[in-house]
Amino acid sequence: MLDIQKIRADFPILTQKVNGKQLVYFDNGATSQKPKVVIDAITKYYEEINANIHRGVHTLSQLATDAYEVSRGKIQNHINAKFPYEVIFTSGTTHSINAIANGFASILKVGDEVLVSALEHHSNIVPWQMLCEKTGAKLVVIPMNDEGELIISEFDKLLSDKTKVVTVNHISNALGTLNPIKYIIDKAHEVGAAVLIDGAQAVPHLKPDVQELDCDFYVFSGHKICGPTGVGILYGKEEWLRKLPPYQGGGEMIATVSFEKTTYADLPHKFEAGTPNIAGGIVLGTAIDYLNEIGFENIQAYEHELLEYGTKRLLEIEGLKIFGTAKEKTSVISFNIEGIHPYDIGTIIDKLGIAVRTGHHCAQPIMDFYQIPGTIRASFAFYNTKEEIDTFVEAVKKAKMMLS
Ligand code: ALA
Repeated sequence: MLDIQKIRADFPILTQKVNGKQLVYFDNGATSQKPKVVIDAITKYYEEINANIHRGVHTLSQLATDAYEVSRGKIQNHINAKFPYEVIFTSGTTHSINAIANGFASILKVGDEVLVSALEHHSNIVPWQMLCEKTGAKLVVIPMNDEGELIISEFDKLLSDKTKVVTVNHISNALGTLNPIKYIIDKAHEVGAAVLIDGAQAVPHLKPDVQELDCDFYVFSGHKICGPTGVGILYGKEEWLRKLPPYQGGGEMIATVSFEKTTYADLPHKFEAGTPNIAGGIVLGTAIDYLNEIGFENIQAYEHELLEYGTKRLLEIEGLKIFGTAKEKTSVISFNIEGIHPYDIGTIIDKLGIAVRTGHHCAQPIMDFYQIPGTIRASFAFYNTKEEIDTFVEAVKKAKMMLS
């Protein structure tokens, strides 16, 4: 059982008024709010140990390096990676996916296929499209059904010895669908394909076990799990990270440099060119500690309650349609009201202090599938409450009345 009021007190922003109204923050799919412990850790880093990492003999540089590597270890434990050097710090999910898609340019050739799911965020479509353009490989789409689930029988049929990469999200950002990734990973491995899992929307709700999943890559962003923006993770199996070329060239990723030839640093540094978001990397460990203290089982159970309650309450509104009704889904409700543009609802309820995302959610192919311009998306976190859902439902009713 979670003490929600105690948890809410950890998040200073939740007491804010927006447009004169008490903030109701239901845009957690876009970014999570930050607990005081994370905000304080950022300040502490800059006040006490700010220095560049892996570069100086001086004490502060060593303190910063140690803190950064301690955080890498925390992330390794959290996702159960076999080795710390399989955990690469990036700037976020988009960076992580681009690094891998770019690496496959040295492996793919004409006739090869990359399987991408119909439920992807643009960041897990465009880098693969760019890769296919570069290599002559073909992008093949795993289709979805009306409920917003992947059609797994079609996935089975699409797999072949041409399939070199399968890339799919763990949870859909636009609909909240929880995909059967273990099945997808195992089947893809049967044909020798590598599998990347976009975990950006999953990590706020669950704790992935990359060894049990046996995925080749698992990527996510820090800011969706109570950490700062500008830091993310690329987990890769050692053998893949050794096989793929580095994504960016620069300082820190080299062993030796001369004008004739450069040799690359060992993992993880090979993929960590340049000065990273040091504070972000360190504080991501703080955020993960915070979430683990609350416990992901507790988070999941409570968010499921919010999902059920929110779904029931919203469906009281006549003409409201929910997009994404998968059997397995997390606390995301994407919906529209007949005859009303989602943007108009979003604008009115913002005036009432409610933050949701409206639009295509960087998942235009899903909107095309449903033949809609976009949706209103309410995405709940463990610090939200049923009372906030009541306020939200009343606000949506009011907006509907004003716009009808
Ligand atoms: N990917 C984030 C979202 O779904 C930004 O809103």
